[in-house]
Amino acid sequence: MLPPYRIKVVEPIAFLSAEQRRMAIASAGYNPFNLRADQITIDLLSDSGTGATSDAQEAVAALGDESYAGARSWFRFRDQVGSLTGYPFILPVHQGRAGERVLFSNLLKPGQICVSNTHFDTTHANVELVGARPVDLPCAEAADLDSSEPFKGNIDLDALEHLLDGPDGGKVGLVLMTITNNGLGAQPVSMANLKATSELCRRHRIPFFLDAARFAENAWLVHEREPAYRDMAPRQIATTAFGYADGCVVSLKKDGLSAVGGFIGLRDEQLHAACEANLIATEGFSTYGGLAGHDLERLAQGLREVVDPWYLQARAASTARMAQLINDAGVDTVQPAGIHALYLNAGRLLPHLSPAQFPGHALGCQLYLDGGIRCAELGSLYLGAMDENHQLVTPAPFELVRLAIPRRVYTDTHLEYVAAILADIAKDPERVSGYRIVSAPPILRHFKVRLEPLT
Ligand SMILES: Cc1ncc(COP(=O)(O)O)c(C=O)c1O
Repeated sequence: MLPPYRIKVVEPIAFLSAEQRRMAIASAGYNPFNLRADQITIDLLSDSGTGATSDAQEAVAALGDESYAGARSWFRFRDQVGSLTGYPFILPVHQGRAGERVLFSNLLKPGQICVSNTHFDTTHANVELVGARPVDLPCAEAADLDSSEPFKGNIDLDALEHLLDGPDGGKVGLVLMTITNNGLGAQPVSMANLKATSELCRRHRIPFFLDAARFAENAWLVHEREPAYRDMAPRQIATTAFGYADGCVVSLKKDGLSAVGGFIGLRDEQLHAACEANLIATEGFSTYGGLAGHDLERLAQGLREVVDPWYLQARAASTARMAQLINDAGVDTVQPAGIHALYLNAGRLLPHLSPAQFPGHALGCQLYLDGGIRCAELGSLYLGAMDENHQLVTPAPFELVRLAIPRRVYTDTHLEYVAAILADIAKDPERVSGYRIVSAPPILRHFKVRLEPLT
């Protein structure tokens, strides 16, 4: 499938020797977040803020109006976001987690519950920071990594209804649907599930919001997999999805096709006023929210480009092709392939490592050692419960590694290289050693943890 663009500006990538990579990862405390970008050949750590902008985005950036208040760039951004989402109140923020903090501190009270199909890590942390409790209710199909059910990102509607009707029902302050479900294999949420959740929340008078960082990719997967939406354009599907919710919080570092940005979308005027006051005190005036005028311009244009069906189809096809190469090499990935990332089943590839030896982390380190590839563990290191001595008490349900694919950055040749490195590891997996934690922070452990290999 041909991408609908060609490359005009390129950026060199680094090729280190095996010895240089060994020294780099050791001095990074075996934590890929501590590596320098110029020590990496292929960077699949995140698809957030790592995409390439278009010539049209760079052209409109020159129109950036940097007025402190009421900038022309703000109105262009607001009109684009407003027409996409249908929400009357839009607040710009510098990135998604800033939106989470502003929204949750005005919407959730200490002791309340926030329910999600799966909270993203910063979302989880921001719910806890306001004294509320995050509860994940993914659908049962999500637990079968190999099943090709089309909408494994859905929320479990029966479990949600049970919670709302049960003794804790009165404590639920928010239902937040993450589209696509980044914490659970980039799986999409169906329109049927969004609509049913919306109706359930309305019946119980509970606000229903979207964490819509990948709204366009979710819309594409709906277009492909949900027959009733086959003839609808991705933008129209996305608008319909926003229509089911009372508001949204969006990181635009993904489907905004830009390095920075986000917004909160709201229907409720009072909530808007409360969030706006908080935004002005902590992010910036409500017509820029911590963003420069040129960022607002790039975002407004990026939001036009991201819903292009040709772009979405080419991106989905590229991810699916990479998944096929990896699966053919004997490495299982969460099925079916989503769009923004592939999730490797490290637990199955490295059965000689117990969860306490962090097989996902071990595979991630090996990808760096063998090929200069950076990626993120989504297993017991990230999600497991530990005691104060960093000993694993409760392992994560799965030991996964996420290969996130930046937008419009790598060609299929780069992705073939990654698959080839994985294929080599799969030929002799027993050479991959486990790891133990040397030090770790109390929250969001994976960002700052330091480890050492087990000899
Ligand atoms: C689903 C989801 N929500 C929220 C965020 C937070 O966004 P940001 O990184 O812009 O703060 C992310 C970031 O990756 C995400 O994937």
